[in-house]
Amino acid sequence: MKSPSAIPEGVRVEVSGLSKSFNGSPVLKSIDLEIHPGEIFVIMGPSGSGKSVLLKQIIGLDSPDAGTILIEGEPVTSRTLLNRVRLAMVFQSGALLNSLTVGENVGLFLTEHRLKPKAEIDRIVAEKLALVGLQGMESRLPVDLSGGMKKRVAIARALAIEPQLLLYDEPTSELDPVMAVTIGEEILSLSQRMGLTSIVVSHDRDLAFGIADRIALMHEGSILSVGTPAETRASRNPIVQQFLNAKLKRENN
Ligand SMILES: Nc1ncnc2c1ncn2[C@@H]1O[C@H](COP(=O)(O)OP(=O)(O)O)[C@@H](O)[C@H]1O
Ligand SMILES: [Mg+2]
Repeated sequence: MKSPSAIPEGVRVEVSGLSKSFNGSPVLKSIDLEIHPGEIFVIMGPSGSGKSVLLKQIIGLDSPDAGTILIEGEPVTSRTLLNRVRLAMVFQSGALLNSLTVGENVGLFLTEHRLKPKAEIDRIVAEKLALVGLQGMESRLPVDLSGGMKKRVAIARALAIEPQLLLYDEPTSELDPVMAVTIGEEILSLSQRMGLTSIVVSHDRDLAFGIADRIALMHEGSILSVGTPAETRASRNPIVQQFLNAKLKRENN
């Protein structure tokens, strides 16, 4: 259960008629989605289906050819939105700056924008590192960290602005299965403790079914189904079933 008093509260995201082509080939084909405040919404689908492109459109890093993205009823491109709503994204690569310490990476946005005095930033950095299980690691350098720890630093950095909407692109890619489970638990626990809205893009079925309130299945630029994990498993769409059941097969085994 999500705590009703959790701060910050998650925001509502509405995507309608979203289309995008690159060099004449359509990558997003009139996508409609409604993401509810406080939920973990997982966008799942095979490589190349358009998941990362969709995520960049949702957070306003790239603009669509057609369609709208509303966050709390306001277009993501609106200047006033950024005064009202805090958005953050955990990039697939983690995108840490190798010349900065872990602590400087986590506090980067706050420092760059001179949002708070240094002592306050140090306190926030320590708090966010503790939230992802990396307390006391401020002075480490990214090169000395494992892949899983880098992902957690990237999550702590996103949390430093206390986001109401947090997007993750393939948070478990390049991680071993045990670390992938840890990151999934992290996403779930942050969502439950902070009440933020989470959009997670992944082709990792275990992650999707482990953390999602609802799952959208994407295929070749279209959304084939949206529903709870149980509803998704019960989908009669043959492409959804094919994606869910795909396995490596070996004859006579
Ligand atoms: N900036 C770009 N220019 C041209 N093609 C792109 C660009 N970004 C993505 N694509 C193409 O869009 C398709 C979907 O990409 P992407 O959203 O990254 O897939 P995925 O579902 O694996 O995240 C791919 O065919 C990719 O090559
Ligand atoms: Mg991708």
